[in-house]
Amino acid sequence: MPEQRIIRNYVDRPNSYTIGSYLSSGGYSALRKALGMAPEEITDAVKKSGLRGRGGAGFPAGIKWSFIPPDSRKPVYLCCNADESEPGSFKDREILEKDPHQMIEGIIIACYAIRSHKAYIYIRGEMPYGARRIQQAIEEAYEHGYLGENILLSGFDLDMKLYIGAGAYICGEETGLLESIEGKKGEPRPKPPFPAQVGLFGCPTIVNNVETLACVPHIINNGADWFASIGTPRNTGTKIFGLSGHVNKPGLYELPLGINLLELIEEYGGGIPQGRKVKAVSPGGSSSAVFSADELDIAMDFDTVAAAGSMLGTAGVTVMDETVSMIKVAQNLAHFYRDESCGQCVQCREGTWWLEKILREIDEGKGSIEYIDIILDACSQMRGTTICALADGCAMPIESIVRKFRDEFEEHIRKGESEIFASR
Ligand SMILES: Cc1cc2nc3c(=O)[nH]c(=O)nc-3n(C[C@H](O)[C@H](O)[C@H](O)COP(=O)(O)O)c2cc1C
Ligand code: SF4
Repeated sequence: MPEQRIIRNYVDRPNSYTIGSYLSSGGYSALRKALGMAPEEITDAVKKSGLRGRGGAGFPAGIKWSFIPPDSRKPVYLCCNADESEPGSFKDREILEKDPHQMIEGIIIACYAIRSHKAYIYIRGEMPYGARRIQQAIEEAYEHGYLGENILLSGFDLDMKLYIGAGAYICGEETGLLESIEGKKGEPRPKPPFPAQVGLFGCPTIVNNVETLACVPHIINNGADWFASIGTPRNTGTKIFGLSGHVNKPGLYELPLGINLLELIEEYGGGIPQGRKVKAVSPGGSSSAVFSADELDIAMDFDTVAAAGSMLGTAGVTVMDETVSMIKVAQNLAHFYRDESCGQCVQCREGTWWLEKILREIDEGKGSIEYIDIILDACSQMRGTTICALADGCAMPIESIVRKFRDEFEEHIRKGESEIFASR
């Protein structure tokens, strides 16, 4: 099956990031259509389409929008989450750099649906190229009357502002992002209340991912039923899979949700270089539990991957071949999450620190066999007990690596112990 280019249709368009190129491919026609509809009709269409959030959790977008009180006396905000810091995930970045107008059109339609007159795009500081492209696109949209007052003579007003973060992974977590826009440290807030009730500056707020919002113009143009006919019944539409690691053809592939993981690796990714074998696959960004080689015959959709004990997350698929040390992978993960923990929760602040230390000792041949159960115990205490899911994002992959590759850990520890004994 050829790659389905619905969102990634910009790949074939010269100067795809400019408004001229976007308009030449029918850009902003969905906005015209949407402005002729009632806001509730748009939310209903998005609900009916089955669109689930592409930022990691897979929460249905239309349902999230319907949590905004329709008669809010406070301003309503929409924040587009363009922080994309999850290791293994690089799908939003391409949309930001190559087709910012598609996302902007989606944001304007979403704002009209939830009656918001102020939208923020939050981009991480390490993507200056994308930030320049978005800023240019926002200015073009104002010049063409798609932003500002009385958009396309509809009576609807919307202002849009780009906010450049300082480059912290935790500012991608939706409430950390809100704190950051408010000018504070990016420390996540306890939930509830959820942002739809108490969000930016204490007002109702929707936070949606770049790819989620980029789907919206296509749903309005082609209809909810069209979108729902792609993928599987509860996992509709296409998804941009970011394939990286040990594959011959790494890159982005837009495919229907539910594509088989083996097919993705073998047919789209061209298999493993130098005829080596797959050892493990991280199916949904660094925070997802890994699959071992015998678990890869699986449909890549939110529900199936969750039922198999992992998560689709951002669909950033990282392939590891037989040469990879799973001890080093676990250690590397612990290092990242320890570095990015905001430090508010003891389980996360201490847990990530201890995991990194124990895993480093094992890797350096200084571990003992009890360390394995200490890791599993620490992981279980980090899961589901903290303000945000960063601690889970560290614990889940490490726990899966230790459980699925326990033999490798035991062998490495025994070898280290015998070397220490021999040197005495
Ligand atoms: C530690 C952490 C980092 C996150 N980083 C991102 C991110 O970079 N981009 C993103 O869209 N969502 C990120 N999320 C998920 C957001 O909190 C939120 O669920 C998402 O932006 C909602 O958008 P969606 O409903 O369109 O998926 C992160 C979550 C956590 C716990
Ligand atoms: S889980 Fe970690 S990153 Fe999230 S709020 Fe707690 S300490 Fe901060």
